Order: sequence, then C-alpha cells, then structure tokens
Amino acid sequence: MAYLFVGEGREYLLEPGATLETDLGILEVPENVEAGDTVETHLGTAFVARELRGPDLFHHFERTGAPMMPRDIGLVMGHTGVKQGDRVLDAGTGTGVLAASLGRAGADVVTYEQDPEFAEVARENMALGSVANAVEVRTGDVTEHLDELGGEFDLLTLDTEDAPAVVAHASELLSPGGFLAVYSPFVEATSEVVKTAREAGLDGVESLETIQREMDVGDRGTRPSTAGVGHTGYLTFARNPTL
Ligand SMILES: C[S@@+](CC[C@H](N)C(=O)[O-])C[C@H]1O[C@@H](n2cnc3c(N)ncnc32)[C@H](O)[C@@H]1O
Repeated sequence: MAYLFVGEGREYLLEPGATLETDLGILEVPENVEAGDTVETHLGTAFVARELRGPDLFHHFERTGAPMMPRDIGLVMGHTGVKQGDRVLDAGTGTGVLAASLGRAGADVVTYEQDPEFAEVARENMALGSVANAVEVRTGDVTEHLDELGGEFDLLTLDTEDAPAVVAHASELLSPGGFLAVYSPFVEATSEVVKTAREAGLDGVESLETIQREMDVGDRGTRPSTAGVGHTGYLTFARNPTL
C-alpha cells in the first residue's frame, strides 16, 4: 500500500521499500512503514506518512487521459447513489480517477481503455489507489465489447467522445432502475448524448453544467474568485426504466 509522504510543503506518493532522491535528501521508506510514521531524509528533513484519500488520486495518479475533477466525481456519486457492491461499467479509463473513486466507494468496476499503454498505467494507478481488486481495467474499445458484457450493471459511466454509441445500448446494459452518467466537455457532445438517451428510452434524462466558484476571503470582504468561470464540463444523467 502506497502512502503520501508530507513535509516541507511537499507530497510524495511512495510504496514501502521505495527510495526517492530529492534536493532535501534521500528518502528511504521502510518496508514496515505505517500511517503516522515520520521518516527523515539522510539530510534530516522529516516527512510524515499519510494514507491516500479520494482527492489525492487526482493529484498523484500518473496522468494519461484528462482525469475528472473531484467536484465532478462528487456529482456522479451524489446523483447515482453508487454504493457497496454495485456493478459499474466505465469507459474510457484514462488516468482512472473516476474508476478508482467508484472502487473506493465499494463498487465492483469494469473499465475499458482502448490505448494499451494508458491501460497499463491505469492498472498501476489502481494498485496505488488500493483498488486493484475492485477495478478491473480491460484493454479495448468498449463499443466492440457491448454484446459480451451482458446486462445488470447498476451504473454506466462514460467519458469518451463516442459515448453516444454506448448510450444507445444503455437499456440493455443497465439493471432496471440503473443509472447512466456521461461526462462531456462540449455542449455539442452533450446534446448528442441527451438525444441518444431519449431515443434509447431512458427515464429522467437531465444535463448539468458543472461550474464551481472558489471564494476569495480577504480583509476587505469575501467574493467569488475573479480568476475564472470554473467550467469543467457537462454531466448527463439518466435512468433505465424499471419496467
Ligand atoms: C478523458 S479520458 C477519461 C478520464 C477518466 N474518466 C478519469 O477520471 O481519469 C478518456 C479516455 O477514454 C479512452 N477512450 C476513448 N474512446 C474509448 C472507447 N471507445 N473505448 C475505450 N476507451 C476509450 C481514451 O483513450 C482516453 O484515455
């Protein structure tokens, strides 16, 4: 199990037994390290071992495909109520932040990544996130495997340009009452997803723009940050009819 080593305003994600050379000295992680332990570099700089938490995945997983941000993952979890033992089909894996977050929430996740190198990195990320047993990363184009997947997924999460090709089969893939969640960076893609979900007979199709405004708290007053709009993308949710 990997730990975050926090000290001097820095964080390093390291496995037991790892050695890291930094300008603050060489950090040798003992094999029996535990959360809360302090480990010093050979120059005497102290780092404290801390267990990885959900938002750390976004910052510390090795990146391939652009990962979903914690706020968007929160919306997926809140709108679908994903829980322990749920069966999830996810595509594409990319960095794997969404898949790992769902696995850490207790779901059994099958996730497809069409790029073999990305899939390999994602498998390593699942191990770092302690969800290698909960998240199965399959190499391949999800649209070519829909027939063999069968139905009965409680949740279908999509973050690919060709998401509509999977949405068209959502009612066959999902259990009665199961949820679809699609992340799209552009409004045109969102509109296609919505139309396809309606044509596929899904219920309660809704699309949300995800904007988050950070608050600047200062001596003169408090107001939303002027740094930017904070747009990340659009999330479309829908549900398989029960009957
Ligand atoms: C934006 S990333 C997904 C990021 C992911 N949701 C996360 O939180 O880390 C999109 C990934 O989907 C993969 N992809 C695109 N179309 C695919 C398909 N049809 N089947 C499998 N993977 C696909 C791409 O190679 C890319 O790595």
